Amino acid sequence: MALLSRWPGQLLAISLYRCFKVAMTPPLDPDALQTLLERLSDDASRCFNEGKVADYIPALAQVDPDQFGIAVCHVDGRVQYAGSAHTRFSIQSISKVHALVLAMQRLESDEIWSRVGREPSGQAFNSIMQLEVENGIPRNPFINAGALLITDLLVSRIVSIQNTLREQLRRLSGSDDIGFDEKVARSEMDHKARNASLAYLMQAYGNVHSDVDDLLDTYFHSCSVSMNCVELARSFAFLANRGVNPLDGKEVVSPLETRQLNALLLTCGLYDAAGDFAWRVGLPGKSGVGGGIIAILPGQMSICVWSPRLDGYGNSIAGRHALEGLVAGMGLSPLG
Ligand code: DON
Repeated sequence: MALLSRWPGQLLAISLYRCFKVAMTPPLDPDALQTLLERLSDDASRCFNEGKVADYIPALAQVDPDQFGIAVCHVDGRVQYAGSAHTRFSIQSISKVHALVLAMQRLESDEIWSRVGREPSGQAFNSIMQLEVENGIPRNPFINAGALLITDLLVSRIVSIQNTLREQLRRLSGSDDIGFDEKVARSEMDHKARNASLAYLMQAYGNVHSDVDDLLDTYFHSCSVSMNCVELARSFAFLANRGVNPLDGKEVVSPLETRQLNALLLTCGLYDAAGDFAWRVGLPGKSGVGGGIIAILPGQMSICVWSPRLDGYGNSIAGRHALEGLVAGMGLSPLG
């Protein structure tokens, strides 16, 4: 009994030790990290015979598949990169994280979490099955239904979400020319059937309130944002830095919300491949069908990898390999 009552304290001590171990680890030797990034970039071409680019819209199908970039942004704002880290690409579902951040900044917690869950879906990002069974409440904000729901919440609060999102991305990344790719947004709208079905189903259950075409237009514009690895890594550095953007020292979200966002990324960020990604990489992450993946090493850095060839889950193959190699090469993981 005495032993049992000591357990919570011991577990707390172990957890604190682990957190501090990561948070207090001195910054990595920049030269060693640079060598590692360049090696990962050189090795990426080994994956160029697997997978294929997203082809559900012509604008994405035309992208050269054999490209790779990687960038890290340290919590002091320093950036290191290799490969095509300055080539912009369609951020697609990575924008779902930025949309959720906007919602968390503007709405009460209950307003969000009474309408969308926080559990992994175990299903494809655009699946409709679970939504019907679960009465129009999406499992989490990162599957398409969940991101549409978050957009619906934002539509009711913000007059011009597109401008607000663009300004947020420019501020977080320090690049003042980030914008939407109208060709991609239009192409998405021309192939809207599945996302429209998700939105209408949620409307039928009373969980979506706005006009579905307006909602889709806003959601597709968010997906169409063009950014490069350096800009994306910078725009997520606040999640490695207890919610503070290292570029301007301003708080984006609270330390608690930072932890909550990282937990959601770890469990839901890669859809039905989230478990495998956690197994292999062990970092909170979010993928997009443009071939980008962002990942967070709390207390140290945010990472963005990009390579357009996707696996069957819609996640970048070379990007995932590189993240595995980066974590192994650095010998640092928040999971042990
Ligand atoms: O709505 C869609 O299906 C796409 N615009 C975005 C999907 C996506 O990026 C999924 N991520 N891997």
